[in-house]
Amino acid sequence: MASHKERFADKMEFPPAIEQPNVYPLSWHSNTRKLQEVWEASQRETWDPEKLPWDTLDVDSYSWEERESMAYWWTLLSVFDASAPPVFAEALIKTYEVHEEDPVRKCFFSVTRDEQNHEIMCGLAITKLLGHPDPLTYEPKTDLGRRLQKNAKWLYFNGSRYWAGYKQAVPRYSLAVLFSSFLMGEIAAATIFKQMYDNSREAVFKEGFKHIGRDEGRHMAICMAVMERDYPRLAEENKAIVTKQIRAGYLFLSAVLFEPPMDFWDLPADFIDTQREAEEVSRGAGFGIPTYEMKLENWKNAMLNMKAVLDRYGIAFPAIPEVGITGQEISDVDMDDIIPVF
Ligand SMILES: [Fe+2]
Ligand SMILES: [Fe+2]
Repeated sequence: MASHKERFADKMEFPPAIEQPNVYPLSWHSNTRKLQEVWEASQRETWDPEKLPWDTLDVDSYSWEERESMAYWWTLLSVFDASAPPVFAEALIKTYEVHEEDPVRKCFFSVTRDEQNHEIMCGLAITKLLGHPDPLTYEPKTDLGRRLQKNAKWLYFNGSRYWAGYKQAVPRYSLAVLFSSFLMGEIAAATIFKQMYDNSREAVFKEGFKHIGRDEGRHMAICMAVMERDYPRLAEENKAIVTKQIRAGYLFLSAVLFEPPMDFWDLPADFIDTQREAEEVSRGAGFGIPTYEMKLENWKNAMLNMKAVLDRYGIAFPAIPEVGITGQEISDVDMDDIIPVF
């Protein structure tokens, strides 16, 4: 790398142009008021999962089946939320590389921090419920617990497969394209945490869901603001990518928001039965996992909201026959195509 040794200062008055993308701007432009407002809200609404009233959670008041079933739900959530800090950290770096305006950088920093909080929350809930900090090496106490651990191992295996694809996608796509995928996750996340909050009775979980739901609402607002800024100028070839990403997002996020589509998720045949059994046990214990019908309704509404956003910009929506939405047929999506996160 001879260029590193090359001296310029004795040949010219001002330094040569800097090669792009350079990792950071030296400027603080602020053009999108809405993003500054969301950043300010994130500063006001900051919270610490470790400071929630954990001492009010009496795990011994639950049976082991209930504890393992609730811990399973948190584990399922972790498959998405525990990947979110590195995913958004990568996206945060991109906002610096492309010299995004100051409020975009700040908003992405806030999302990264929020997602770390969500991941911490998952870890605390699992550790308390199981009395062990790792759902994969935990020793199950019941038959259901054993079957749930098998489910968890398969979920984790599947979730691990999208990281390589994501890392390749970030430099390849513009922020505008990445945002459509993020928005998918945020719309859905904002609704599920609202449902969990409404239907859960354990104080510390309720408190956590309230904060997480509020965070996800802000994340959604960030995505919307950036889309409003960029989509009127979105290139035609990017529109097709967005359509495909929405279908990919549907398939990926269905695992936590609805039920995993088996031709996309590589899971054993008894997976869904076991998961449904745990959900029933959890609901019985006052832990508000929505029923199949509620999930279907919720997920369908999230898709319709997304469709309304894309319609505004003349972007085709993919067919989602699973929830009764017609649209453009998208086939051959696989884990390598996944950008969406929670
Ligand atoms: Fe999250
Ligand atoms: Fe989020």
